[in-house]
Amino acid sequence: MSDAQTLKQTVESHIAALPLADRQPENLYAPMVYILGMKGKRIRPILTLLAYQAVSGRPVSESLNLACAAEVFHNFTLMHDDIMDRAPVRRGQPTVHIRWDENIAILSGDALFAYAMELVVKDFPEKAAPLAIEFSRVSMAVCEGQMEDMDLALRSEVSIPEYVEMIRKKTAALLGGCLAMGAIAGGASSKQVEKFRQYGEKLGIAFQLQDDLMDAFPPEGFGKQVGGDIIENKKTYLYLRALELANPEQATRLQVLFQTDMGTDKGKVAEVLDIFRQLNIPGQTQALIESYFQEALQLGEELAAETDFGPMKAYLGVIAKRKI
Ligand code: IPE
Ligand code: IPE
Ligand code: MG
Ligand code: MG
Ligand code: MG
Repeated sequence: MSDAQTLKQTVESHIAALPLADRQPENLYAPMVYILGMKGKRIRPILTLLAYQAVSGRPVSESLNLACAAEVFHNFTLMHDDIMDRAPVRRGQPTVHIRWDENIAILSGDALFAYAMELVVKDFPEKAAPLAIEFSRVSMAVCEGQMEDMDLALRSEVSIPEYVEMIRKKTAALLGGCLAMGAIAGGASSKQVEKFRQYGEKLGIAFQLQDDLMDAFPPEGFGKQVGGDIIENKKTYLYLRALELANPEQATRLQVLFQTDMGTDKGKVAEVLDIFRQLNIPGQTQALIESYFQEALQLGEELAAETDFGPMKAYLGVIAKRKI
């Protein structure tokens, strides 16, 4: 069975069974169990399972550790990202650095990263080298993207291509890497692996754009601080497109607001959202999201001719309709 709900449950059970609970020191392991138990959407492991199945035609259960490596790594990035973004809430619960403290969040995150490496090589020891290289390169790309995310927040002049390249690295590289690792494990040719990666990267750019849109205009049950990106002066597509469409007065006001640290001042968020609404930024962003999903679908056509791509294509629809 490869429908999204079944795959999510399979991943959920595997994560719950990882041998991390009740280990010592408690301050290291408890936050790992806490964040992994928060139950995210699990899209990264599902993508790995689907790529493995599409290429090999074999049961997804054979690649569960590899798939969960991606989720464990993702949760490491979230733990550190929440420190960097000063985020108080994740998946509807206090973030690790708030519930414990920053040093604990740094070290527990490191431990998740280290543990992910064991899971990367566990299922396919004969392919350990290519999988480890892939995983290492993806990890480096995420670090580069996260650094650029912070650098851009401090810069006043940022272009939309610079923003897209930043989100390609911080988010899309991992989605592409999840597909690449699943494809490598499944025995794909290097040409096919690159096509899977490309598909995942287009999907990943659309996914981060959705995330940035929801940060400002949250759906119900969003589970994160609303306007967190505005508070932190993040140069998202929403802000950059608004600057392009703004009249001189609006543009000056946006620039002033995004140069100051106003803490969690609700007035700043409300004023920025008001300008975004006046300029139809939600509609503008939605259009760009659609165009990246379309690009992914086109790449998927080629993969559908070579692999069992049906379930993967169906899953793209699930991500496109994501509510949180
Ligand atoms: C959040 O990822 C971080 C981003 C790259 C946008 P998800 O939206 O996949 O978060 P969870 O894992 O479902 O909570
Ligand atoms: C995070 O992007 C990407 C990562 C590499 C973790 P965001 O900072 O937008 O993710 P959220 O919104 O906190 O989940
Ligand atoms: Mg964040
Ligand atoms: Mg961030
Ligand atoms: Mg975000």
